[in-house]
Amino acid sequence: MSIRETQAWQALEQQLEGGMRDVHLKTLFQQPSRFETFALEAAGIHLDLSKQRWTPEVRDQLIALAEEARVPEAIQRLLRGERVNQTEDRPALHSALRLPREAKLEVEGVDVVGEVHATLDKMETLVGKLLQGQWRGATGKPITDVVNLGVGGSDLGPLMVTSALADFEPDHAHEVATHFASTMDGSQLADFLGWLNPETTLFILSSKSFGTIDTLSNASTALDWIASRLGGDEKLIKRFHFVGVSTKPDKMSEWGIDPANQLLFWDWVGGRYSLWSAIGLPIAIRVGMDNFRRLLAGAHAMDEHFRTAPLAENLPVQLALIGIWNVNFLDIRSHAVLPYDGRLKHLPGYFQQLEMESNGKSVTNDDAVVDYSTCPVIWGEIGPNGQHAFYQLLHQGTQPVACDFLAPINRYNDVEDVRFRDDLMAQHRLALANCFAQSRVLMLGDDAIKSESTPPSYKRYRGNQPSTTMLFDSLNPATLGALIALYEHKVFVQGVIWNIDSFDQWGVELGKKIATETEEIIATHSGLETLDDSSRGLIEAIWRGQQQ
Ligand code: F6P
Repeated sequence: MSIRETQAWQALEQQLEGGMRDVHLKTLFQQPSRFETFALEAAGIHLDLSKQRWTPEVRDQLIALAEEARVPEAIQRLLRGERVNQTEDRPALHSALRLPREAKLEVEGVDVVGEVHATLDKMETLVGKLLQGQWRGATGKPITDVVNLGVGGSDLGPLMVTSALADFEPDHAHEVATHFASTMDGSQLADFLGWLNPETTLFILSSKSFGTIDTLSNASTALDWIASRLGGDEKLIKRFHFVGVSTKPDKMSEWGIDPANQLLFWDWVGGRYSLWSAIGLPIAIRVGMDNFRRLLAGAHAMDEHFRTAPLAENLPVQLALIGIWNVNFLDIRSHAVLPYDGRLKHLPGYFQQLEMESNGKSVTNDDAVVDYSTCPVIWGEIGPNGQHAFYQLLHQGTQPVACDFLAPINRYNDVEDVRFRDDLMAQHRLALANCFAQSRVLMLGDDAIKSESTPPSYKRYRGNQPSTTMLFDSLNPATLGALIALYEHKVFVQGVIWNIDSFDQWGVELGKKIATETEEIIATHSGLETLDDSSRGLIEAIWRGQQQ
């Protein structure tokens, strides 16, 4: 049965026809105590859902929809380690990666917690060696720079978290800088190789499958760079300058990664859910293992909230439900992520993979084509920068866009120099004022300000753009962990309601296959006749251009 046939879905459609389709947020705000009605808090995250175009009655029907879709049972199945990833027939147990050491979780006869903590301990030893200056390169000098070579989930999570937690330092004297190169064109890597010292550089080959061409091509360039600069035995270079993180020990060994330098994780960890595993190695190197464990603890706090809170108070569930209302009933298919904190500049990119690779699907778990919309287009930017770029469209364009505003409550309190601290705290206040002002204007439009006369139409703001505001006590490992877990679980709940598999990604495979064939054609100058007219024309242009 399609979710559209459930009683709750029909009731929601009636709400829509009964006035909710056209109701303006300024009318909804005439209800008293709207903030208290729609404010939630858990694990250091404060969620304000009052600026969404819904009412308590709509929320109740959405909760009924979640119940009809058996969301409560699905949450327990996910966290217990059942095979919720149907097409790949395996669990999606990222929550197990953040269980405390004393927790118990046996999945299909395996002590998952024991395995997770054994890997965390191996990771801690490796991180300790690096941060104490004891990991030396082939010429005996301590490693000063680590370059993560990975893409997608093996890049975006660690990149986002190391940037978000830039204020957190490890508890060690020896500094190791972290860098990220993902692009298969080699441009990011070539830049680093232009100024890094091969004697003191360590590469992490980060790949769940250890078969991704983007990462393997960067790895081979990095190896040739060190070998050509330092000379000597390639085996030794691999031992001193390469670490591997993967679920495939055989492939790592085949490439030449020393087993002592291999960190493993499991096929029940999805790539875009893997920053909590050894894929998070660059995070632990950048902020220290204690802070990495705090990140895990913050996510675990959100997992516990998700597992135990009733649907009406459950942050991930509520965030998911408002998304369903916006996409499936209000027909809002564009969703902007707008952090008011420069340290979160990589958050929109990270959420793009998390949400769109998880829920960008159109076939249900029962192998039927969906007859409703699924994941909206996720995009975003640092909010204050977006104000000077695309907010014009949010305020006066023709697209409905749902926005998530994110900001820390506290910032710069620990800066020691008083004058400098006051300046910075004033800047933080400015950012918060802008964040609140923007969501208010998006909500109320012209009514955000009292005016004697009616402005000309080009100066008018229609308002009624819905938004969620998320505040966290401060941006620290624990709140960041909770925030990421909040979105992970939101994505899962939406997947359950849409009856799709949030944990596979078959839609990325065909492009990879065709690219392999295309590369062969470009390299060998043969086989053009097998292609379409456009591809043929483009490849001929490359051939002509490269001969000149
Ligand atoms: O092509 C998509 C994808 O498979 C993502 O799901 C994944 O995060 C990324 O590629 C990288 O994969 P791997 O970690 O196996 O190199």
